[in-house]
Amino acid sequence: MLGNLKNINVLVLGSGGREHSICDNLIKSKKINYLWCMPGNAGINKIAKFYEIDVNDKKKILSFCIKKKISLVIPGSEEFLAKGISDYLRLGGINVFGPSKKGSLLESSKIFTKLICKLGNINTAKWRLINNYKTALKEIKLLKFPLVIKLDKLAAGKGVLVANSYEEAKKFLIKVEQGKIGDKNSKIIIEKKIVGKEASFFYVTDGITSRFIGSAQDYKRVGNGNTGLNTGGMGCISPSPFENKDKIELINKKFIEPTIKAMNYLGYPFKGVLYAGLMFTKSDIFLIEYNIRLGDPECQALIARLKSNFLDICIATEKNKLKDIKINKDNKKSICIVMASKGYPDEYKSGFAIKGIKKVGNNVNIYHAGTKLDKNKNIITNGGRVLNIVSKEKTLQRAKLNAYKLLKNIKCNNLFYRSDIGD
Ligand code: AMP
Ligand code: GLY
Repeated sequence: MLGNLKNINVLVLGSGGREHSICDNLIKSKKINYLWCMPGNAGINKIAKFYEIDVNDKKKILSFCIKKKISLVIPGSEEFLAKGISDYLRLGGINVFGPSKKGSLLESSKIFTKLICKLGNINTAKWRLINNYKTALKEIKLLKFPLVIKLDKLAAGKGVLVANSYEEAKKFLIKVEQGKIGDKNSKIIIEKKIVGKEASFFYVTDGITSRFIGSAQDYKRVGNGNTGLNTGGMGCISPSPFENKDKIELINKKFIEPTIKAMNYLGYPFKGVLYAGLMFTKSDIFLIEYNIRLGDPECQALIARLKSNFLDICIATEKNKLKDIKINKDNKKSICIVMASKGYPDEYKSGFAIKGIKKVGNNVNIYHAGTKLDKNKNIITNGGRVLNIVSKEKTLQRAKLNAYKLLKNIKCNNLFYRSDIGD
């Protein structure tokens, strides 16, 4: 179906800054006829076509793809992939950039990933399995802190606690019991805390070949100086300070290739993005987690540095042709700063007018996340993370300066941001 590469119709699923940056890259490809994105946002809907549809209804998405002659679907988030959108659409003859439901276990089940680490001899923190929160509440009384508690299943980014004391751990597990965090039937992992510095390395694989597409450093906490609650990400820089040629090869050899091999061994060939969350200690590298899609906001900073078109990467991945392509990146440094609704990641209000979104220059971009148009076609806030300011320059300092300069033009009564991204 992707044989005729001249006029293809592509559908991106999602509504974040990640999906806006993907659409912004795709639309530059001459191979695209129509670009669709659903549910989209006020920024995406300016560059991609939109149709009102329940994006979680696989049947409706497949019918839509057939009707609109969509050749390729790019699901942005793990939610779609973990629910098996790839399997469903592929069975219906549609190409997808992303792993199968079984492949998605690398993100949706922490236990599965630990077993893959065992099978592939991949370096990860020592761990043990606990059947449920009840048993965990008993066992933590006997354990030494600090340690890390992880729910096995996806928990909207809230399923992990680095616990420094018994009291902290107990509080977390009680929230699980009350249904405030994740699924209370989830199995639990208790693992050793690794002390080091984190970095995210991104590879794409077609199940045979793997190619590095970039690295990033995420700023997860809500407040300056890495304080406050964990968020989906308040900003990031790319590349990570740990990126160099040796590390790219080493991580591929020690983590990515053994993972691909183990997945093939189990009969779950993996296609798509392998996003390795790594901890660098003084003498070693540990796998903290895998994600099976691009990060948000990491994608926005990564895509800014990508010289190859993302569409070609998606097609080569789906067609098992990654070995035939080279992925070119800019040597410049990029930064992404997130503007979020006051109160995020806790409760926040939406519906505030946003003014001053104007792009100036080639090396800057404003990607929308939680935005929509009101009745009078004014842009208003519509979510936790609202805007992403991306800048790319020869030095990180310059990129940072430009991004914050651009950000200052944006006027909204209910947005905040971290002022230390890239420090
Ligand atoms: P995860 O969802 O597994 O990536 O965990 C979320 C965050 O918790 C990570 O990005 C780390 O900051 C932290 N974390 C997870 N596991 C560990 C560990 N074993 N040692 C130290 N920090 C960890
Ligand atoms: N920014 C972290 C993530 O996308 O998982």
